Amino acid sequence: MARIIVVTSGKGGVGKTTSSAAISTGLAQRGNKTVVIDFDVGLRNLDLIMGCERRVVYDFVNVINDEANLNQALIKDKRVENLFILPASQTRDKDALNREGVERVITKLSEMGFDYIVCDSPAGIETGALMALYFADEAIVTTNPEVSSVRDSDRILGILASKSRRAELGLEPIKEHLLLTRYAPTRVNKGDMLSVEDVQEILAIPLLGVIPESSSVLRASNAGEPVILDGESDAGQAYDDAVARLLGEKREFRFLTEEKKGFLSRLFGS
Ligand SMILES: Nc1ncnc2c1ncn2[C@@H]1O[C@H](COP(=O)(O)OP(=O)(O)OP(=O)(O)O)[C@@H](O)[C@H]1O
Ligand SMILES: [Mg+2]
Repeated sequence: MARIIVVTSGKGGVGKTTSSAAISTGLAQRGNKTVVIDFDVGLRNLDLIMGCERRVVYDFVNVINDEANLNQALIKDKRVENLFILPASQTRDKDALNREGVERVITKLSEMGFDYIVCDSPAGIETGALMALYFADEAIVTTNPEVSSVRDSDRILGILASKSRRAELGLEPIKEHLLLTRYAPTRVNKGDMLSVEDVQEILAIPLLGVIPESSSVLRASNAGEPVILDGESDAGQAYDDAVARLLGEKREFRFLTEEKKGFLSRLFGS
């Protein structure tokens, strides 16, 4: 069975698509057959970040509507083995996604031997976002260190616990992970942003990663290369750590302070 991971947030523009691209790439780099699905109907973006926009012929909605099969719609990444992209539709029809259709696609992907299905959620808490999280086994709650983002993430946690398939069937709850993105220690120290500890205290879910605010992210997205492929960059390394933790590895947190050391001892007293 494929493991289904939703990258979600409530609030828009916090880094879901950047994170979906990086994390799916990282999972595939470690030998897991991975597909990343763009649930953002009408606002296709993932294909740009993944650098395959010119190769899109069919999309997720075409597959749901039986206008194409998965083999026609899936785009195989040219850089990383085991990595596939299912692009979003540009249709304006907000009801293009329906639960039965999404379930059929996910079941088929599972039958095709995918280990991970990463769902890049649109912003908000409407149809697209609900469809993206409904079938999830795990959720990567993407949050910026500011009050409005944390509040929306808290709302999403409520929805994961009440409106997901696992919640409705009374199964083991979705495994939740906090991914703090666009973290800028200098601004935290000035009091302009919440600290890791502040956010963790409010949301109270395990910390998967802290991705620093970094010019490498914009550079990567302009180049159509998931930032995790830039192994020299701080953001790329932070995503690599997050993927390792997602797979159960222990990794120290980095890029949390201006001087790079001393955070763990402050947080955990170790
Ligand atoms: N760590 C980072 N450092 C600097 N910029 C970042 C970082 N993460 C994301 N960004 C920038 O923030 C913007 C929004 O990122 P992204 O598109 O991934 O967010 P999103 O949550 O998917 O947005 P939407 O809700 O519209 O789908 C982009 O311009 C991206 O380059
Ligand atoms: Mg997005």
